[in-house]
Amino acid sequence: MHLSSVLKFVRQILTGDEFPRYILAERIAGLIYKRYKFSEYGRLFLYDDDFVRLYERFENTGNFHSLDRKYALDQLTKLSLFLDGDTAECGAYKGASSYLICRRNLKYQKTHHIFDSFEGLSDPVNEDGDYWKKGDLSCGEHVLRENLKEFSAVHYYKGWIPERFSDVADRKFCFVHLDIDLYQPTRDSILFFYERMTPGGIILCDDYGFTSCPGANKAMNDFFSDKAEEIVLLPTGQGFVMKQA
Ligand SMILES: C[S@@+](CC[C@H](N)C(=O)[O-])C[C@H]1O[C@@H](n2cnc3c(N)ncnc32)[C@H](O)[C@@H]1O
Repeated sequence: MHLSSVLKFVRQILTGDEFPRYILAERIAGLIYKRYKFSEYGRLFLYDDDFVRLYERFENTGNFHSLDRKYALDQLTKLSLFLDGDTAECGAYKGASSYLICRRNLKYQKTHHIFDSFEGLSDPVNEDGDYWKKGDLSCGEHVLRENLKEFSAVHYYKGWIPERFSDVADRKFCFVHLDIDLYQPTRDSILFFYERMTPGGIILCDDYGFTSCPGANKAMNDFFSDKAEEIVLLPTGQGFVMKQA
C-alpha cells in the first residue's frame, strides 16, 4: 500500500466513514482470531435501532452475542404464526425471546406458554460436556413476569422440564422455542412438542450449533435421525425444523 493510500485510509477513519472502520476491524480481528469470519458490510438488520434497543433492554451484558439469534427468531415466527396452535418457550430467562414471540402473537391473538425452573440449568449429564454448571442462568419468575407484563395471553409453568408439560398436553403448537442448553431438557421437550406441532409449525433450538452445547445438538440429531424433517443449521448457531404433514 502506498503512503498516500494509507493516509487516505487513516483520514477516512478519522472523519467517521463507517466502511473503512469496518475493514480495519476485519483486518485486526483476522490477526487476533482467524476463525471468526466477518460477514458482508452493511447488513440492514444492524441498522434496526428499535430492535437493538429492545435487545439492550433485556441483555444488559454489554455484548451483542445473541442479537443475530434474536433477529432470526423474530423473523422465523413469520413462517408459522398464521397457522393454528399456540406458541411455547422452554427456558425463558429474562424473557427476551418470549417478548418477541408475544409481540408477534398479538396480531394472531395467540397464547404463549413458558416453561422454566426459575432456578437456572438442571444438572448437566455426560452428553453436555463441562461448559455448563447446575444453576447457571438463573432468573426469578418475578423478573420475567415484570418484563412480559404488557402481554396478557401468557402462561407460566414453573418446574423442571418435563414436569409441567402435562398442563398443556391437549394443546397444539405452531412455534416452539427451545433454549435450555442441555441434553435432557432439550430431548424431553422435542419428545413432547413434536407430535403436538401443527404441520408447517417450527421448532427452533437456540443451542443447536454451539460447541458449548453438545447435548442440545445430540438431542436434536438423535430425535430427527429417523424423521422426515431435516434440521436446518443457521450460521447464527440456531437449528430449526418445520413439521411435515
Ligand atoms: C439460556 S437461558 C434462556 C434464554 C432465553 N430464551 C432468552 O431469550 O433470553 C436458559 C433458561 O433455561 C432454564 N432451564 C435450564 N434447564 C432447565 C430445566 N431442566 N428445566 C426447566 N428450565 C430450565 C433456565 O432457568 C434459564 O432460564
